[in-house]
Amino acid sequence: MDVTKVGVLGAGLMGHGIAQVSAQSGLDVVLREVDQETLDKGVGKIEKQLGRAVEKGKLEQADADGVLGRIQGTTDCGDLADCDLVIEAITEDLDLKVEMWKELDGIVKDGAVLATNTSSLAVIDQAAATKRPEAFIGLHFFNPVQMMPLLEVIRTVTTGDEAYKTGLEFGAKLGKTVVEAKDKTGFIVNRLLVPYMLDAIRAFENGTGSIEEIDIAMKGGAAHPMGPFTLLDFVGLDTTKSIADIMFDEYRETRFAAPPTLRKMVAAGYFGKKSGRGFYDYSGEKPVAVDPGV
Ligand code: 3HC
Repeated sequence: MDVTKVGVLGAGLMGHGIAQVSAQSGLDVVLREVDQETLDKGVGKIEKQLGRAVEKGKLEQADADGVLGRIQGTTDCGDLADCDLVIEAITEDLDLKVEMWKELDGIVKDGAVLATNTSSLAVIDQAAATKRPEAFIGLHFFNPVQMMPLLEVIRTVTTGDEAYKTGLEFGAKLGKTVVEAKDKTGFIVNRLLVPYMLDAIRAFENGTGSIEEIDIAMKGGAAHPMGPFTLLDFVGLDTTKSIADIMFDEYRETRFAAPPTLRKMVAAGYFGKKSGRGFYDYSGEKPVAVDPGV
């Protein structure tokens, strides 16, 4: 299937990025949110990033206008009817996703490919909830979608060749580095990255180093763009814990178990950058490491 029109469900952190990179690749995009205020917020983020690119001389104003012109924001699922590919990037809650697919199944045209951007749920559980599991794939993007080169394309047990090929070609069209991953919880990247971040918390808990020292060490010693605590705050502690819990449920391996510090910080509402506090406090000019004291 030659994808020319993409539907994106959810205009949050991942959804707005997926919509932006799709429109930047010349595709028409329908971006759907549950209410106008959330939709405006998502579109606002895209406008801001395009504006910054124009300011930096990386993009012509006319091209930025073209990208925005290709994104149709909506709160009506009916507007997704003639999309060739529909990607969900809503809350990481299986019941919510299944409920949404059941509604969309009767709306989106036959022959379209359906995809989930889940970070940790098994793709099959959403595919099996639709009447077209052969047309269902996983497309796992990374945050920030605009900057991270990778796309994991996941084939689950029901995925047909045509749908899978569509996913691979879509990734190539976006200019992403595409890797094929099996439908195993966490796929490739989160299976390796999440235990690493959890281990950084354990290293802090057992006194190996301070939050700053561990971050400095992994930046300077392993050439990571961010240390693990900066990355934890960036991904979100709530998101990380939720992925860890799902992987632990699936594999029952201790390396996927959320350390007590993480559990307590999430319970306290310290979600990282988005809440203003995580392993760092973001209220000042520069982030300052805070001992979680748990
Ligand atoms: N959204 C969009 N663009 C962003 C951005 C954001 N949140 N943050 C930074 N950028 C852009 C900037 O605009 C800038 O673009 P330009 O080069 O075209 O001008 C570019 O990124 C570089 O920005 P900065 O110089 O301000 O900052 P850095 O050089 O530190 O880069 C970074 C920022 C790209 C976020 C880099 O620190 C990085 O790669 N960090 C690691 C991110 C990572 O590991 N992500 C994966 C998380 S795991 C995941 O997503 C899986 C999920 O399932 C949980």
